[in-house]
Amino acid sequence: MKIKVIHGPNLNLLGIREVNIYGPAKLEDINKNLEVVAKQNGFEIEFFQSNHEGDIVDAIQESLTDGTNGIIINPAALTHTSISIRDALAAVRVRIPAVEVHMSNVAAREEFRHKSMISDIVAGTITGFGPLSYHLGLISMMEILNQLKMAQQSQGQNQ
Ligand code: DQA
Repeated sequence: MKIKVIHGPNLNLLGIREVNIYGPAKLEDINKNLEVVAKQNGFEIEFFQSNHEGDIVDAIQESLTDGTNGIIINPAALTHTSISIRDALAAVRVRIPAVEVHMSNVAAREEFRHKSMISDIVAGTITGFGPLSYHLGLISMMEILNQLKMAQQSQGQNQ
């Protein structure tokens, strides 16, 4: 089963960007750790980062045809504004569940960060644990996909 991790704008600058908020880890370090854990658990994992809203919408839509089973997404600033990312996640959600992840504790920051356009249509949100948020997001997604697989298998047996 394949998990796609989508990182939004400015997350390519992790390690340089506002280190007091986001910490010193680089995006490639975070991705590497996720890859190790995914592989250990028998999952395929793919990474996508873009600073452009439409490209993120495309990456979500492509999940329908590229074998993706689950999405982990940190839409970064677009979390608070993007109806098109919300609509894309809503369009694929019957087939592909998503987990929302944030490095910082958005609820403890500026008021404009308190609103997420996607929280109510994802399986769950993990926020405030730095790189660990992604790790917890991956653990959650693997659990969701394992449960789905088990449910499908037992449905198959009952037919
Ligand atoms: C973020 C929080 C957003 O408010 C912010 O715009 C980001 C990163 C996080 O991971 O904490 O770019 O999504």
